[in-house]
Amino acid sequence: MKKRILLVFGTRPEAIKMCPLVKELQKRTEEFKTIVCVTGQHREMLDQVLKIFDVKPDIDLNIMKQGQDLTDVTVRILNGMRDVLKECKPDVVLVHGDTTTSTAAALAAFYAQIPVGHVEAGLRTHNIYSPWPEEMNRQITGRIATYNFSPTPLSEKNLQEEKAHGNIYVTGNTVIDALHMVVEKLKNDTALAEEQNKVLLEAGYDVSRLETLNLKPETAPKKLVLITGHRRENFGNGFIRMLSAMRDLSIKYPNVDFVYPMHLNPNVRRPIHEIFTDMDSLSKGEGWGEASNFFFIEPLQYLEFVHLMSKATIVLTDSGGIQEEAPGLGKPVLVMRDTTERPEALASGTVHLVGTDYEKIVNEVSTLLDDAAAYEAMSKAVNPYGDGQACRRIADVLAGKEVDKYSYKTNI
Ligand code: UD1
Ligand code: UDP
Repeated sequence: MKKRILLVFGTRPEAIKMCPLVKELQKRTEEFKTIVCVTGQHREMLDQVLKIFDVKPDIDLNIMKQGQDLTDVTVRILNGMRDVLKECKPDVVLVHGDTTTSTAAALAAFYAQIPVGHVEAGLRTHNIYSPWPEEMNRQITGRIATYNFSPTPLSEKNLQEEKAHGNIYVTGNTVIDALHMVVEKLKNDTALAEEQNKVLLEAGYDVSRLETLNLKPETAPKKLVLITGHRRENFGNGFIRMLSAMRDLSIKYPNVDFVYPMHLNPNVRRPIHEIFTDMDSLSKGEGWGEASNFFFIEPLQYLEFVHLMSKATIVLTDSGGIQEEAPGLGKPVLVMRDTTERPEALASGTVHLVGTDYEKIVNEVSTLLDDAAAYEAMSKAVNPYGDGQACRRIADVLAGKEVDKYSYKTNI
């Protein structure tokens, strides 16, 4: 009998990490009936990903409201999922990571006594307010899950120490499956890569500025700092300090481009307008201020974002997923957070934590831009997070097959 698998996700990063699994399960039609439910916790940023992976949801709860709070999101999902579960009668509900979509959907499945599979299980900072609310979200989902799909041996160890009731399978992270898919596409199709340059130009950033560096070294930017930020615990003063550091770095280094695809959350955009006051030129994609080397652009499609990341010199971010992708591309990552639930790349030396401290951000970015040896030491391509086989392993577990264990030798 085919197993009925219901996948539930709702934000951009969950979609990037779950779409390759949707594809894998849909391919195995003899074994699975695959049902996709999106909560729509994100709207535009979710739809961007569904489009790129060509995934058409069977159910869309469409819950997003401007300025939603955590209670709004939780309540709407719990309500919506009750009917979805009654209707679909899945054998297993798969949720991902640490968002409110993930925890609320897992709780709804628990109330209906349907087993939950947790993809990306066992990441921990052990500090429930950092990141907030994600650390508690993943701990709760971890208590509920029957199947824990841990990306690394370290996340398996975290769950073993907590005596998780479910079984643990070390699969690698599905983000690396997604990354492999798009990197292969871009490598094998030069026209596609060219097309990404055009899309980026329309979005407000001309990547050819990086390529003209040998022609006009005195004016052309030589390096690219790629920036993203959206963590709730950084809202307010944290963002003000981060943005002040970026503004001053862009003045200090006129030959370096700073590109910031902005998250759609108004709490992220408000301080950008406060710190970078010359917003008229920004909205025309002309860069900021006199130096014109700071570019605020709209969120990018996954393909364009990976393409841009592959051209970056440094990645400055508070994102979770980017901490996993950038080391795979050999890009040093400075993480604007005090803690990380992804210490594997810290141990490998490709990731440093800089928090939201003005001095630390300015100093670490400056070191990487000025000191070739320091840069070299951080820019190794390492990938402790997966081998591109995570989705196949998860599907094998769900099909009741023997499964090999993902093992990357880290020194943790
Ligand atoms: C959510 C997740 C976070 C994840 C992040 C990825 C929770 C509590 N937070 O945070 O773990 O790292 O997504 O990006 O689950 N908005 C839009 N369009 C969109 C997306 C967002 O307009 O496509 C705006 C809306 O005003 C919305 C706000 O952003 O109310 C916040 O969205 P929400 O999902 O609540 O929080 P994120 O900060 O995106
Ligand atoms: N990303 C994207 N477009 C962008 C910025 C990021 O496609 O403009 C991708 C990025 O490659 C990564 C994911 O979005 O896979 C990370 O999402 P986000 O930082 O919003 O969430 P987090 O990973 O912190 O939960």
